This record gives sequence, structure tokens and C-alpha cells, in this order.
Amino acid sequence: MTEWRTHLRRTMNELSSSASTRAVDSMLNYETVKYFGNERYEAQRYDEHLMLYRKAAIRAQRSLSMLSLGQQLIIALCLIAVLWRATQGVLDKQLTLGDFVYRVLKQSISDMERMFSLLEIESEIKDSQGAPPLAVRSAEVRFEHVSFSYEPPRQILRDLTFTIAAGTTTAVVGHSGSGKSTLVRLLLRFYDVDKAGGGRIVIDGQDIRAVTQDSLRAAMGIVPQDTVLFNDTIYHNITYGRPSAARDEVIAAARHAHIHAFIESLPAGYDTLVGERGLKLSGGEKQRIAIARALLKDPHILIFDEATSALDSRAERSIQQALEQIARNRTTLIIAHRLSTVIHAQQILVMDQGRIIERGTHHELLAAGNVYAQMWALQHQQHAPTGEDEMLPLVAD
Ligand SMILES: Nc1ncnc2c1ncn2[C@@H]1O[C@H](COP(=O)(O)OP(=O)(O)OP(=O)(O)O)[C@@H](O)[C@H]1O
Ligand SMILES: [Mg+2]
Repeated sequence: MTEWRTHLRRTMNELSSSASTRAVDSMLNYETVKYFGNERYEAQRYDEHLMLYRKAAIRAQRSLSMLSLGQQLIIALCLIAVLWRATQGVLDKQLTLGDFVYRVLKQSISDMERMFSLLEIESEIKDSQGAPPLAVRSAEVRFEHVSFSYEPPRQILRDLTFTIAAGTTTAVVGHSGSGKSTLVRLLLRFYDVDKAGGGRIVIDGQDIRAVTQDSLRAAMGIVPQDTVLFNDTIYHNITYGRPSAARDEVIAAARHAHIHAFIESLPAGYDTLVGERGLKLSGGEKQRIAIARALLKDPHILIFDEATSALDSRAERSIQQALEQIARNRTTLIIAHRLSTVIHAQQILVMDQGRIIERGTHHELLAAGNVYAQMWALQHQQHAPTGEDEMLPLVAD
């Protein structure tokens, strides 16, 4: 029957396309149609085509209905036959009621098996038995001989040792892929340092593996490299940093992140929906919302991973001042490619292939004249310096 229907269907398609060709053709050539006063003639021809198409479409639909009628009939009859045989079997005591409903049971059990196998997967990062919460005093962060690889043969971090003294700012710079964001993932304990000889990460003298993950992450606020927002209102996305925050605090955080004026300018203000993953906002707007969110959390330790990379130089400069003010007297880790944003850091670490190859303040590193100084010079060739402002490029990237 399907074979037989194919040609009905094909005729219908052909007639449909010839009718629309007719219509498009007469409209494209509307001038010719008007030259000869043939509007009525064209309309009539189009009507004829449509009529042919209508007939073919009805024929195709009728055949389809017949086909499904036949199929349904066969299925229904078979179902009745199966039910009848099974019921008879139960009545004759050849089958139990359990046999009768067996298929559904079997299916549910196999569905549950999959669920249970998911539950059995052990997460690699676990709180150790009876782990106490992190007791933050001054928030000093120390990496001691940290080595790490995501997958064993490829070593990402090699024997890193550094201290972020309480209340100071440390900046990490270095080529893409040198392991900067990995430092952050380790600090937040998304991964553990290598099991054998991987060193340890310590906050105020406590190994982060010995405290609960909740308390560890509660102590940190992060503006990650890739901002992800929830498909909800801007307000919701900012309060995500601290759901209990009052409206005033949310607005204060937005002001610090230089995003309040923009939000107010939107027709729906703070109730604007941001779209999936924040798609309806620009990269810089998303980033500023992420900054507001981290500021609202008001954590002991602040982490900025390329937090201003999506902003133009002017916006970056104004937000930079706000960030420096917030980072003052707070333990802060900044990762940045644009060196002009880390000049103020008390310590700058230059990373290369998972190692720290240089460390010091901006002036010490410039004076040393090595990798950092080269990077600085290179960035300044690109951003033609302008007199007093030579630290802060004015040219938009
Ligand atoms: N989940 C992962 N599994 C395996 N390898 C990874 C994973 N995440 C990152 N890497 C690798 O680890 C290395 C360091 O990555 P990381 O994200 O720390 O670099 P980065 O210094 O932050 O670079 P960028 O400046 O581009 O952000 C990269 O070579 C990367 O390919
Ligand atoms: Mg990174």
C-alpha cells in the first residue's frame, strides 16, 4: 500500500511546486503581466494549478488514512488476541498474573539498574571522615611543592611553591595553557594534587583536603574565566553569590562592578532575562555580572581568572579601580594576560609550562629584565603608550 501511495505523494509534490513556480514567476515578471493587462489571466492559471494540487492532496491524504486504518485494525485485533490468550492462560492456571505483567516489571527493573549504577560511581573528591570546616583566620594561602596532572602521563603543574600572604594580592601571568586556571581549580578542590609526591595546598595552616569542601568554597569568591549565567533574571544571577542578600546589597554589588547603570537602562531592569547561558548579554556585560556576583559573596579569598578580559580598556580601567579597592586587605589571586592590570600586586608569579619561572613585584621583575620584562615590552608595542598613562593602554583592544 505504501508503494502504491508513493506515486500519489509524488504527483502531489510536483503539482505543489508547479503552482508555486507559477505564482513566483508571475510576480517576478509583474511588469510584463501589467504590460499586457493579464492579471486576471494569471490569477486564473494559478487557480487551475491550485485546483489540480488540491485534488492530488486529497487523494494522497485519503490513501494515508486508509493505510493507517488498516494498520490500526491489524494492531488492535492482534492486541485483543494476545490479551485473550493471556487471560485464558491465567484462567486455566497455565500462567500466573506475574507472567502476565512480566514485561513491565522487567523493563522497570532494567531502568532502575541504570539509575543504581549511576549512584554507585564514586566521586574522586570526597570529604574525609569527620572533616571539620575550614577555620579562616587571616586567610593565608600556601602552595607547597604542588604537582598535578589531569591524566597521568601529562604533567600540568610541577613543584609549585608560593605563598599568598594574608590580605595581599598575588598575580599569576604566563602563556595560555601554562596552568593558571588549573591553580584555581586545585584551590577550589575540583581536583586533588597528585597522590604521590603532589605536595599540598594549605589555608591558614589547614590542608584543604582535611576540611569540608562546603566550608572551603564558602571562603572563596571567584570570577571564572568563562562566565556562565543561569537562564533567569539578572537579579537572580547576581544574588546567586549569596541568595540571602537584601536588594540594597545586590544593587551595591552591581554598582561596584559598574553594571548598575546598564541594568537600569534595560526596559525590564533587574528582571531582564539573560537567555540560556547568558546569551542575550555581551561578553563584557556577562563578566561584570559575574564580578558583581563574586563581590556580593564578600568572601575571605577573592579569585579573578581573566575577570576583565572581555572589557574594553576604558571599562577595564574604571572597574580595575573598584576591584583594587575591594581586594585591599583581602587575600586575592588574580590571573591576567594584560599585565597593566596586575601592576599593583604585591607579588607577581610568571608561569611557564607548569613552573614558576620568575617572581617579584612589577618593578623588581622589570628591573630583572627577563621574561616578564619582555612580555611587558611586547604588550607596550601593541598599545602605543601615551605620556603619563603609559601603564594603562587607552587603545581599545
Ligand atoms: N580537564 C582537563 N583535562 C585534561 N587536560 C586539561 C583539562 N583542563 C585543562 N587541561 C590542560 O591543562 C593545561 C593547563 O590548562 P589551564 O586551563 O590551567 O591553562 P591556563 O594557563 O589557564 O591557560 P589560559 O591562559 O588559556 O586560560 C592545558 O594544556 C590544558 O590543555
Ligand atoms: Mg585559564
